Amino acid sequence: MKSNNIPINKKEDFFKMRNAGHLAAKILDNLFDLIEPGISTLEINDYCHSLIIKNKAIPAPLNYKGFPKSVCTSVNHVVCHGIPSENKILNNGDIINVDVTVILDGWYGDSSRMYVAGKVNKKNYDLLKTTYECLLIGIEEAKPGKHLSDIGFKIQEHAESKNYSVVRDFCGHGIGKEFHTPPSVLHYGNVGDGPELLPGMFFTIEPMINLGDWKVKILKDGWTAVTKDKSYSAQFEHTIGITESGNEIFTLSQNNTDFPIKEI
Ligand code: MF3
Ligand code: CO
Ligand code: CO
Repeated sequence: MKSNNIPINKKEDFFKMRNAGHLAAKILDNLFDLIEPGISTLEINDYCHSLIIKNKAIPAPLNYKGFPKSVCTSVNHVVCHGIPSENKILNNGDIINVDVTVILDGWYGDSSRMYVAGKVNKKNYDLLKTTYECLLIGIEEAKPGKHLSDIGFKIQEHAESKNYSVVRDFCGHGIGKEFHTPPSVLHYGNVGDGPELLPGMFFTIEPMINLGDWKVKILKDGWTAVTKDKSYSAQFEHTIGITESGNEIFTLSQNNTDFPIKEI
């Protein structure tokens, strides 16, 4: 069944998404101890790739529209879709988003978190914390009776209250037996716009928040999105399903490292 072209999934489908989501989370849980100064983003990719395969799943990004690697690694002013490389070595204080999407038994689980190599400075810590809060505030709005854009409204309100900006060029997306389906989940907007949220809708919320201006550009590799003003950017992502009473987060950490950054 579809509503507004948004797939409405069945009760049984929650079980499949839970399994896929838990695996994506498990991969991210394992990165907490791995990421430190001196590691390359290719090593992070290869670690994730092996662990995904070992769990009888497929890394969805690999060869997706020509993407060459198994996860996205986006460091400092890279907003999203960074390509893992042996030449990109993390330095002390670097902030990195690792975005993992697995296909398990035909279903997609998509999640990303920020990590810090070594010790984070106060300015970056505050950006990471606010971005994580934006994700949670967005998820809080995702329930029957609300409209799709209520999510973006709350996220934008929180980010801008701290003088950060919300990236406009990328959004969350419906997900399930396909990587990207309707709806587009914008991380900014007005109250009450867009379709009403209904039980059985599966989608991601994945705000990208910048220290400076929201404008981004794509590098010549055709993938890497960076802030135009080179300001640092952060992102967290969960895959959720709308239930009768609210939502279920499919990609919650199994070891309480949804926000894998030590307090400063
Ligand atoms: N996981 C990303 C998302 O959140 C998509 C990555 S597509 C890739 O939608 F091709 F860049 F890997
Ligand atoms: Co996504
Ligand atoms: Co993702």
